Amino acid sequence: MPPLPPFPPFSSTPSRALVVAALRAAGCVFAEDEAELLLAAAPTPGELATLVDRRITGEPLELVLGWAEFSGLRIAVEPGVFVPRRRTEFLVEQALAHVPDAAVVVDLCCGSGAVGAALAAALGPVELHAADIDPAAVRCARRNIPEADGQVHTGDLFEALPVGLRGRVDILAANVPYVPTDEVKLLPAEARDHEPLVALDGGSDGLDLLRRVAIEAPDWLTQGGCLLVETSERQAPAAVEAFTRAGLRTRPAVSEEEYAHVVIGTRP
Ligand SMILES: C[S@@+](CC[C@H](N)C(=O)[O-])C[C@H]1O[C@@H](n2cnc3c(N)ncnc32)[C@H](O)[C@@H]1O
Repeated sequence: MPPLPPFPPFSSTPSRALVVAALRAAGCVFAEDEAELLLAAAPTPGELATLVDRRITGEPLELVLGWAEFSGLRIAVEPGVFVPRRRTEFLVEQALAHVPDAAVVVDLCCGSGAVGAALAAALGPVELHAADIDPAAVRCARRNIPEADGQVHTGDLFEALPVGLRGRVDILAANVPYVPTDEVKLLPAEARDHEPLVALDGGSDGLDLLRRVAIEAPDWLTQGGCLLVETSERQAPAAVEAFTRAGLRTRPAVSEEEYAHVVIGTRP
């Protein structure tokens, strides 16, 4: 398909129908909903033209808007940072169902910090720590988890965390990268072109980071504390095995509606 021409600047606010038509022509499935959001986000016709142009040339809607909806929150997102997916709300729900009175929460591989922010919003005052290896993610997470609400650390998995957290964590949420290396090229262009490899590539079977997290998690969890990860359907049995081998009492959970697979491991 030849590239779409740039969306022309408007001299006055264009009709909603014109924006919908442009989005639809570019293949946006939810053109009506997106048009509403873009119209609401642009204070002038010129800015609207820029936003629509960015969207129809393939930028994810969330990056164009600068935010993503997640668990009822508006999460700031930035270029080069993983956009939180709605299916990950299922991981948040499972964490809350398993440890409803959690006092210490860690969001490992936090990206934008959406998971940690959502858990804290639901739990009320908690000790919240989030961590990521990518400085761009850490910067973005600090916007979603201001200092008053929690601490955001930089580093490789558990190395980023204060040692004083060992044995005290009630919820350890770790939405690690889990796409097998050979399958990264099969992802939709919005992910391939706009999200960093470090946020997607989970190694040959996609479970390299998940296994590392499972091995170390029991040292950080309190008794009855839970580790939660997201996987694909195909990966879930291997993830359950890794958790069980690490000494966690393990169970998989599935949301057919969200097409989400979560593995939950409790420290006995
Ligand atoms: C799939 S994204 C998930 C982001 C966020 N938790 C969410 O659900 O939206 C995975 C994140 O893991 C981070 N990451 C990758 N390798 C890491 C490592 N060794 N240590 C810490 N973070 C890592 C990436 O930078 C990315 O932000």
